Amino acid sequence: MAAIEVATAPFDDQKPGTSGLRKKVGVFQQPHYVENFVQAVFDTVDGLAGGLLVVGGDGRYFNERAIQTILKMAAANGVARVLVGQNGLLSTPAASCVIRGRGAAGGFILSASHNPGGPDGDFGLKFNTAAGGPAPEGVTGPIYERTRTIEHYLTVDAPDLDLATRGTAELDGTVVEVVDPVADYGGLMERLFDFAAIRDLFASGFRLRYDAMNAVTGPYAKAILEDALGAPAGTVVRAEPLPDFGGAHPDPNLVHAKDLFDLMMGPDAPDLGAASDGDGDRNLIIGRGRFVTPSDSLAVLAANAQLAPGYAQGIKGVARSMPTSRAADRVAETLGVPCFETPTGWKFFGNLLDAGMATLCGEESAGTGSDHVREKDGLWAVLLWLNVLAARRRSVDDIVREHWRTYGRNYYARFDYEEVDATAATALMDELRGKLEHLLDHKAGGHTVAYADDFAYTDPVDGSTAAKQGVRILFDDGSRVVFRLSGTGTAGATLRVYLERYEPDPAKQDAEVRTALASVIQAAEELAGIQRHTGRTEPDVVT
Ligand code: G1P
Ligand code: ZN
Repeated sequence: MAAIEVATAPFDDQKPGTSGLRKKVGVFQQPHYVENFVQAVFDTVDGLAGGLLVVGGDGRYFNERAIQTILKMAAANGVARVLVGQNGLLSTPAASCVIRGRGAAGGFILSASHNPGGPDGDFGLKFNTAAGGPAPEGVTGPIYERTRTIEHYLTVDAPDLDLATRGTAELDGTVVEVVDPVADYGGLMERLFDFAAIRDLFASGFRLRYDAMNAVTGPYAKAILEDALGAPAGTVVRAEPLPDFGGAHPDPNLVHAKDLFDLMMGPDAPDLGAASDGDGDRNLIIGRGRFVTPSDSLAVLAANAQLAPGYAQGIKGVARSMPTSRAADRVAETLGVPCFETPTGWKFFGNLLDAGMATLCGEESAGTGSDHVREKDGLWAVLLWLNVLAARRRSVDDIVREHWRTYGRNYYARFDYEEVDATAATALMDELRGKLEHLLDHKAGGHTVAYADDFAYTDPVDGSTAAKQGVRILFDDGSRVVFRLSGTGTAGATLRVYLERYEPDPAKQDAEVRTALASVIQAAEELAGIQRHTGRTEPDVVT
């Protein structure tokens, strides 16, 4: 068997976004589409030839097909060894863990995250570097350039490998090892968290429902929560990864995990409800009768992280994306550690984590994580919550309310206006940007503007900059409204409006969120003219 060279021609749509290539399945099924992108990676990334490569995905439709293609191309391109998750599975954080832990030169992660799957759904292909995180611009730029001129790719003519059975096979001199997708990651979790205390918690009758949404975290959650930590069988529901996620949308929010939410608000609620998305990097945390916003979750975890062995020395700093509520800032201040405000997108945390400047990081969009890997990590967030609950033996609701009494409550909501006419959305943002300098002391919704800008970021580690990351308007009472356009939407524009009001008075911390935010919602409308520009009076989605 020898490498064969196959003639091909460039596609014009292989520019990787922040989450790699993400397209309809049909796009990836075009002949040579996967091959071109993969060859562009082999042609431009150092260390893969003769090195170790990690491959795995979230199990969605086309996962195994794409993996077989990658394995044959890895052999033809002289990769020494490939680790692939059994049945082609690796959650995104587990892939990051394996890449880092095994000293790989990089890895391919096959996933379209929380997007629907199946033949008519989405697929994705992403390359992560040796650090375990998504390839930065300096790596994706050359990959993209290569896809524009590619004329051939290398593969071997060999039968498909058996991915269902663990073990080692050889493909034209390349060793392909099918590994337990959970083992490395499970070991890392065991080092970070007090498994004995969490086992005691379950033994005491504590009840958890973990909804894996028929996506990749099913096997991880079963192995860790049920087998290792002794949670009763059946704790993990929708545990089997399915190619189409059972027809559901694997996004752990209050819309797509509504059954879990309803259970947690009802009379038979267990102590904790949790869920993760298609590829296992997002998380949803709900206590009995208490939904915990991702912004609050980051703050509570930062305040309690030292209860877990992996963070017992204390945290070095916190990082949050700009639109994420400022609840974590108050914790960092009390702990005497820095709080970094970064643009939206996980990649901005990488340098801070590498440099040891931040330990925990999070985004309002259900992403929480730490320096243990270079991706956000859904199951990690659930385990840290379990560790805190095991140490404190109080309810989620108690812990959250006590947190508010100590630090104040940041009432928070995100309004999404989807499929807005792109011109109208741009006009709204341009108009806001045009008047920023004149907003100081301006009154809106009864609040007085204390500060307004278009967020710009300079990375404290490498000095790189990112401008025009969203308009933020701060009021003199600590309230805030942020406007930005989504970078991930697919149809028209998605306007995101982030609303926040700070309430230090414990007697006023029990209001309904929308009621508490009414004056800030009013201020947002007055300042931006959402209805005038978009014709919308109500958001499509509120999170
Ligand atoms: C959204 C989220 C952002 C997250 C990104 C990728 O981006 O808001 O926090 O990092 O998805 O999961 P957006 O559509 O707002 O640009
Ligand atoms: Zn995801």
